[in-house]
Amino acid sequence: MKKAAVIGCPVKHSLSPKLHGFWLEKYGVDGEYNKVEVLPEELEGFLKGLKEAGYQGVNITVPHKENAVQYMDELSDTAKRIGAVNTVVVKEDGGLFGDNTDAYGFIENIKENSDGFDFAEGRAVVLGAGGASRAVVVGLLDEGVPEILLLNRTREKDKKIKEEIGGNIIVGDWKDREKLLDGANLLVNTTVLGMDGQKELELNLEMLPKDALVTDIVYKPLKTKLLLGAKARGNQIVDGIGMLLYQAVPGFEYWFGVRPEVVDEQKGGVL
Ligand code: ATR
Repeated sequence: MKKAAVIGCPVKHSLSPKLHGFWLEKYGVDGEYNKVEVLPEELEGFLKGLKEAGYQGVNITVPHKENAVQYMDELSDTAKRIGAVNTVVVKEDGGLFGDNTDAYGFIENIKENSDGFDFAEGRAVVLGAGGASRAVVVGLLDEGVPEILLLNRTREKDKKIKEEIGGNIIVGDWKDREKLLDGANLLVNTTVLGMDGQKELELNLEMLPKDALVTDIVYKPLKTKLLLGAKARGNQIVDGIGMLLYQAVPGFEYWFGVRPEVVDEQKGGVL
């Protein structure tokens, strides 16, 4: 039986077992997908013991995504650029290959759920400079976005992304975020603002062009205040749940040998 898992701390609330469990059943794969709580001090030992424990690989979630990089024998170009690993594959020789599928998940969600959105058409405004922002920025650059305007409350963090990832990234002042929406083709919230239990994202959308697409990586609630406001004024919106679904696709294929299809039914299962 093929075996994979998600590791994190805490990992209790991870939705990955449901996503992968759905596909294991759908495709009749003889496999299992578990969740394992791994403390920071246990990470190295756990990863190094994956082959012996019979794993095909694992997903990595908070707080281990960045720390896991150092324990990989090989990294995908994307994982290197993002500086974090969310998908690990145990190779035939026992070596560990680290990938990051968050950028793919973010982009694929927009491609699948928008009305022919063209990334190359104009500037993207990205709010936030945490781990999720790095994956979004790498994904957008690879899709040919001509310019990314990065806005974060803490200035050093957006500058660090610009320096480390490279490409046409400009940084602006978080306080100016409303007027800086002028001319955007895409607006992305990668901050935690708007998430259940967090503060709201305060953002007047008046300056945002009506043909811009607005997306939020927050999916609880599914329709954030940002998305509802954007929709009310006629902007195309894409909610965040699809990023979670699509980022799981490459891992499932690596471990279980089937490229799974994301279906709407899965959203009900994870929300
Ligand atoms: P993730 O890895 O999920 O992106 P993170 O690294 O904790 O999470 O990043 C959270 C993001 O939300 C950051 O961009 C953070 O801004 P700071 O870098 O200034 O901390 C942003 N964020 C959190 N609370 C915020 C608030 N009250 N106002 C503005 N931005 C906030």
